[in-house]
Amino acid sequence: MIIALNNKSNLEKEEFKKYLEELKTVETTETLILCPTFLNISMVSNSNIKLGSQNVSVSDNGAYTGEISASQLKSYQVEYAIVGHSERREYQRETNEEINKKIKQLFKNDITPILCIGETLEERKQNKVNKVLEEELTIATRDLTEEEKKRLIIAYEPIWSIGTGVIPTNEQIEEVFQEIKRLVPASYILYGGSANEENIDQLKQIPSINGYLLGGLSLKVDKLKVFIEKLH
Ligand code: PGA
Repeated sequence: MIIALNNKSNLEKEEFKKYLEELKTVETTETLILCPTFLNISMVSNSNIKLGSQNVSVSDNGAYTGEISASQLKSYQVEYAIVGHSERREYQRETNEEINKKIKQLFKNDITPILCIGETLEERKQNKVNKVLEEELTIATRDLTEEEKKRLIIAYEPIWSIGTGVIPTNEQIEEVFQEIKRLVPASYILYGGSANEENIDQLKQIPSINGYLLGGLSLKVDKLKVFIEKLH
């Protein structure tokens, strides 16, 4: 299983140093992927974790002030990158077309994309879940080779679950996972959105889940340990 830790815009330098020490005490055979802020990436030297970023530029190196390219990430041993997180789609107005460009940049530099998709509560109420996911997946994976599509990691994150403490029913998650599998031959499909050490007992009943993308829980190492223990 993959357990991806999305720190979002949290942890200043000294806090992050302490956090890394705590993370060293996490014992697991699962694949732990830490996605800190860009500034904190170079501080990670934990042998029990792989490195991911939370975003990437649509462009190569060049005159793009404030951007960080996939080849730069690669030079810092970054192996994974979250793309299309709903917070970026909402606050940075990130489009599926841009996400597609980012995914291509990542593959060009041998970094595995973790593509986030998910519907709003409004879209779910209007029975538009499949339509939204299909549009997100189709445009984001446009012109990728079959091999690249297989290498993709998809994170299903219902927007109404992120940071709210509310999670979908197992049936709702299973239904979406089947739809994703119908559309893309991705190697891993993760669940993200308020997954925690309490609801993992429910979530782990879903056989299709290949791992989790954790936001809030990524910052609480004690609870993260409980979560990981309960996975087994
Ligand atoms: P959450 O965030 O676990 O705090 O809901 C998940 C995410 O946004 O990736």
